[in-house]
Amino acid sequence: MAIKTTQAFDDQKPGTSGLRKKVARFTLPNYLENFVQSIFDSAPELRGGTLIVGGDGRYYNDRAIQIILRMAKANGVAQVIAGQDGLLSTPAASHLIRKFGAQGGMVLSASHNPGGPDGDFGIKYNGENGGPVPESVTDAIYARSQMITEYKIVAAQPVDLSACAELFLGDMRISIIDPVTDYADLMEELFDFPAIRTLISGGFTIYFDAMHAVTGPYAKEIFSNRLGAPGEALINCKPSETFGGGHPDPGPANAKDLFAAMFGDNAPDFGAASDGDGDRNIILGKNLFVSPSDSVAVIAANAHLAPGYKGGITGVARSMPTSSALDRVAGALGVPCYETPTGWKFFGNLLDAGKITICGEESAGTSSHHVREKDGIWAVLMWLNISAARGQSVAQIMQDHWQCYGRNYYARHDYEAVDIDKAHKVMGHLRGQLDNLPGQSFGQYRVKFADSFTYTDPIDGSVSDNQGLRVGFDNGSRFVMRLSGTGTVGATLRLYGEVLETAKDRLDLAPEDVLAELFTIARKLTDVHALTGRDEPSLMT
Ligand code: G1P
Ligand code: ZN
Repeated sequence: MAIKTTQAFDDQKPGTSGLRKKVARFTLPNYLENFVQSIFDSAPELRGGTLIVGGDGRYYNDRAIQIILRMAKANGVAQVIAGQDGLLSTPAASHLIRKFGAQGGMVLSASHNPGGPDGDFGIKYNGENGGPVPESVTDAIYARSQMITEYKIVAAQPVDLSACAELFLGDMRISIIDPVTDYADLMEELFDFPAIRTLISGGFTIYFDAMHAVTGPYAKEIFSNRLGAPGEALINCKPSETFGGGHPDPGPANAKDLFAAMFGDNAPDFGAASDGDGDRNIILGKNLFVSPSDSVAVIAANAHLAPGYKGGITGVARSMPTSSALDRVAGALGVPCYETPTGWKFFGNLLDAGKITICGEESAGTSSHHVREKDGIWAVLMWLNISAARGQSVAQIMQDHWQCYGRNYYARHDYEAVDIDKAHKVMGHLRGQLDNLPGQSFGQYRVKFADSFTYTDPIDGSVSDNQGLRVGFDNGSRFVMRLSGTGTVGATLRLYGEVLETAKDRLDLAPEDVLAELFTIARKLTDVHALTGRDEPSLMT
């Protein structure tokens, strides 16, 4: 074993979802090694333990895995379980950690960010519950990375990951497994595959865009082989280092073919896409995009229709900026709804403690207690199961839902790659007004509360402050402003708005019309355009 001397980098603080940087930075000498060693130093349980490793197949995935294997051996890991070809979707990695009782898992991904030599790379570290480690551990990793002086690595030839096999690196066992089978089996336990198969063979047409990312092989096995979807139902299913030169962020800008089909003539009945590492999902019906905040609410209201959830749900949770459509379902079901900071790691304790069954975020993430990550394919299967059980189209499901619970019109406006100082100015400007806002009126909007969101974890009592600025109004509307924790260029400001409508004749309006006045007020109070020098958001979802 060799001990290599190194020098600390000052920017290895994990963000909302692991450490994410430009490839050019990640591939600097010792950059990856420092961070991986900081993980090993902060997770002593890996010594003598089992580690799951895999990634979304992006550029540098293959070389990074080889470095991790050699460092795992040098750090005393007993066994590594790796996906064939170095592939594992984020939810599949989470499942494998739990299934094999592993001590942790390293997932190589920068999620929906672009890949390739000019794109992004990232590493997420998950703990033995299968979920992102809590802030106490990411803080420890960061602290370690700032003082690191050496790392451990063995010299070895590259390990052949191209076939399923049991190999050894010295005395460390490396089990290379098919990345799909265990996950697909879990899905088959949770959902009514015969009913979905009958739905599809009966002419219900589906269209899934894997975006040249990791879910391709999963989609083929599950939707085609196990559920009988025809070949043309699945597109972009071959994982590529550069995501086919595209951007694996499921949305109208990047899933162009999918949106064109779903909003075109003879649209399929059901459309969906997932992101780079397979944890996000979007759901579409004919000429209809389901807002992710609505999706998690629909799932919570209908989960009992799927065999894995037939006993009902114990509770739900959503990230703070996610709309309160989910709260309304929870209220009707008489189960608690927890409001957590942005980022999947905050759901972990609630899931482990059995307090919640379903959780989700407005950023196209939904999942349940079956893993400790959001899960794109799971959400698609849940929707198919609901459609099959209710015998309804996506549009009918949404109409029924809004009639029953009201509609939380919702949108997010992003200001990307903003100068960091300017972004902090915007936040500071709004923060400075919070104390004086309650009671003030803007047109028909009267401020009920205004605060900076602080979360106290109900399980371990840990406190996370500074999690976004919220301004709520008497009529149930709300806007939120926060700084992104996943960007790799400058700062990204996210402005989220939600307006609740319960009048039965106001459930079919254009969201942008309903939300226009609220966003005007939000822009006025944040002064985001003047302070950033932008005329408009760079992205609206
Ligand atoms: C974004 C999303 C957040 C999600 C995270 C990781 O984080 O907003 O909901 O958990 O990506 O996928 P942000 O960039 O806003 O910090
Ligand atoms: Zn992702």
